[in-house]
Amino acid sequence: MKVGILTSGGDCQSLNAAIRGLAKALYHMSEDTELIGFENGYHGLIYGEYRRMEPADFSGILKKGGTILGTSGMSRKSLNRQGDSGFDRVEAMKNNYYEAGLDCLVIFGGNGSQEIAELLCEEGLNIISLPKNIDNGLWGTEETLGFCSAVETAAEAIDSIHTTAASHGRVFIVEIMGHKTGWLTLYAGLAGGADIILIPEIPYDMEAVTAAVKKRLRMGKKFAVLAVAEGAVSKEEAEAGNVLKRQAWGAPFTAYEISSRIRSSTGCDVRVTVPGHMLRGGEPSAYDRALATRLGAEAAAMVLRGDYGYMAAVKNGTVEKILLSEVIGRLKKIDPKASVIQEARAVGICFGDEKTE
Ligand code: F6P
Repeated sequence: MKVGILTSGGDCQSLNAAIRGLAKALYHMSEDTELIGFENGYHGLIYGEYRRMEPADFSGILKKGGTILGTSGMSRKSLNRQGDSGFDRVEAMKNNYYEAGLDCLVIFGGNGSQEIAELLCEEGLNIISLPKNIDNGLWGTEETLGFCSAVETAAEAIDSIHTTAASHGRVFIVEIMGHKTGWLTLYAGLAGGADIILIPEIPYDMEAVTAAVKKRLRMGKKFAVLAVAEGAVSKEEAEAGNVLKRQAWGAPFTAYEISSRIRSSTGCDVRVTVPGHMLRGGEPSAYDRALATRLGAEAAAMVLRGDYGYMAAVKNGTVEKILLSEVIGRLKKIDPKASVIQEARAVGICFGDEKTE
């Protein structure tokens, strides 16, 4: 069995742990396993940059962040079949797949990468994928590789901010990755004890946000901490459909805009902290390593069963599979009525949608 592997899109902490889980399970279950690693995501598949990997390549990588294969971002649209130069990247990927003599290709990726995986399925390749995304916004799986580790790092950032916010009596905004979904901000905000959490799924009203800050001051608290998703939007922006324009900016625009509004209406000293790509770096958490090993093992079982066109996924805490065609083109958003939101509101967390007196 000759199996190709590639990691695509933004990296995360537990990619190597998942690669190891897949490799160990394949070597364990089938003696004639041969693994081929493609370099830097789909780039390696397009340009034929790959190497035969040995069992030793998968040792000592369980706790190693990033990806031993390298990665790159690519969208289905950007493949631009036939391209300007007439170079057909999809055909190139197919040719390299066949030239490498693969029985199947296992792809570790987030939303954009799963779309290309599905395209390759449509083109007749044997594809299996694993869900990777620190944002946790991938449809069809309760959890994604990297999410849990990123929550740990983001919560640590909020923890650190708490002490300095308290010492100086300041309002702090921690902007957390997540352009389209707020899972990371929500869970890090809950874990880190943020007073206000703003996420894309619950558009905020600036008056409600400043009222929540003022309420804390009236209660005698000298500081406030806000966890704000990079894709958080105001009610006006959401109504005007201004969401994508803002997301395309890519700079920590949301946090700075909110900070100047809070400063002018409360007179507080406000600071912004953006952990940014730190949230994707470092070692995977223990839970993430366990999840990665489980997903890798299931992907190996899928390879041996020939379950092509599926993504390994977590459903009701169990690792299962879901059709790739069901995963793509959808986002797993937080339901504003979900119990986690109600529980957060119960401890007084403000989501910026309801004015608190
Ligand atoms: O999808 C994960 C993610 O970390 C987003 O939260 C973030 O906006 C994006 O990737 C940034 O990635 P890059 O700077 O690598 O394009």
